[in-house]
Amino acid sequence: MDVLLAARERTAALTGCVPDPELVAQYSPLMSPLVWDLAHIGNQEELWLLRAVGGHAALRPELDSVYDAFEHPRAERPKLPLLPPDEARRYVADVRGRALDVLDRAPVGVDGGAGPLVRAAFAFGMIAQHEQQHDETMLITHQLRAGPPVLTASEPPPAAPDTESLPVEVLVEGGPFTMGTSTEPWALDNERPAHEQVVAPFFLDTLPVSNRAYAHFVEDGGYRDPRWWHPEGWAQVRGHGLGAPLFWRRDGGTPGGWLRRRFGVVEPVPPDEPVLHVSWYEAAAYAAWAGRRLPTEAEWEKAARYDPASGRSRRYPWGDEDPTPAHANLGQRHLRPAPVGAYPRGASPLGVRQLIGDVWEWTASDFLPYPGFRAFPYREYSEVFFGSAYKVLRGGSFGVDPVACRGTFRNWDLPVRRQIFAGFRTARDPEPC
Ligand code: AVJ
Ligand code: FE
Repeated sequence: MDVLLAARERTAALTGCVPDPELVAQYSPLMSPLVWDLAHIGNQEELWLLRAVGGHAALRPELDSVYDAFEHPRAERPKLPLLPPDEARRYVADVRGRALDVLDRAPVGVDGGAGPLVRAAFAFGMIAQHEQQHDETMLITHQLRAGPPVLTASEPPPAAPDTESLPVEVLVEGGPFTMGTSTEPWALDNERPAHEQVVAPFFLDTLPVSNRAYAHFVEDGGYRDPRWWHPEGWAQVRGHGLGAPLFWRRDGGTPGGWLRRRFGVVEPVPPDEPVLHVSWYEAAAYAAWAGRRLPTEAEWEKAARYDPASGRSRRYPWGDEDPTPAHANLGQRHLRPAPVGAYPRGASPLGVRQLIGDVWEWTASDFLPYPGFRAFPYREYSEVFFGSAYKVLRGGSFGVDPVACRGTFRNWDLPVRRQIFAGFRTARDPEPC
């Protein structure tokens, strides 16, 4: 199956580009050693494809605890009895060989009787998405790594288009729309079921917030004014001395005044790129400073999926067609976001650009279940995270593979997190008439 092969090629590239001793090192306590992600990918594949679908016995029962994300927080993982790089590679290859045999025999695509795990090859899609999600996690780990660059992009992103003629914001009409999905075969449990959601009219930025715009907030003293900040965000600013997005460094000799480190390359902060590596608190503070707010998750999904002409919710902003390189910046192809305004073919019916790809977008919303939610196939994918601790991100970054990205896809993280590939766009209510 192509999606499994594509994920494995990417995993091999992300773990093959540094010497083995680096695979067991921890670049940041926020992230696992790369070799943990590698064997965890194999262990999840073993659990779901070999054992749950294939009915196999455990290959190495002692590995389950080592690679259980809940038993061991990331900071502790370097101390675990991890498989050394060569053994980890052998393990994941062994699991994959057996998984492809299971796939050959599984009654995939057959409906009645096959059961929900193999219906439409769900378990295989879930495992391909899981591997791609950990590939993005490993890409984040690479961004935190000090030292000379080891990753390269196959091609540069498209150039900054002329955005002067674009409206700054669009009005999304109020009223009901269909949020979530019951028909997307590989949608994960938290995206289900489809349900009606009513949204009041609102304005949404046509483009993600750029580095140029964000730098104005910085230069205006945004990080020194508690008015803009959630109390916990202000505590983070004070406690950690924050004054700019993660990886930015002030440099008087650089036009614009800022440098950033990106996958080992130090370069001037590109003013036209969407801002990246800001926490939810920073995003919310910028929005408050600008006299605006973050969109709710429902607003974001309506802007991304609702087609005013048909009244229908579609799979992507541009329609139901799977993403192509002309629609969105996905899959680590460019190793960076494209300038704001890129991908006109990926725009929504109202003209909102880059909802999919480039940067994950923080929303105002807590990560909560949809009405009728049922945990599937395991509570630890989504259910245990529901509540007010996590904020929802939408749309996917340049580091997300298309298999793990769609108009209904929901990501979540703690509001303090800055190492993820997250930016945002802002919204506002209409003026009362
Ligand atoms: C959906 C990105 C928050 O990485 O914690 C990977 C995805 N779940 N393995 C995460 C996931 C289990 C998850 N996020
Ligand atoms: Fe995982």
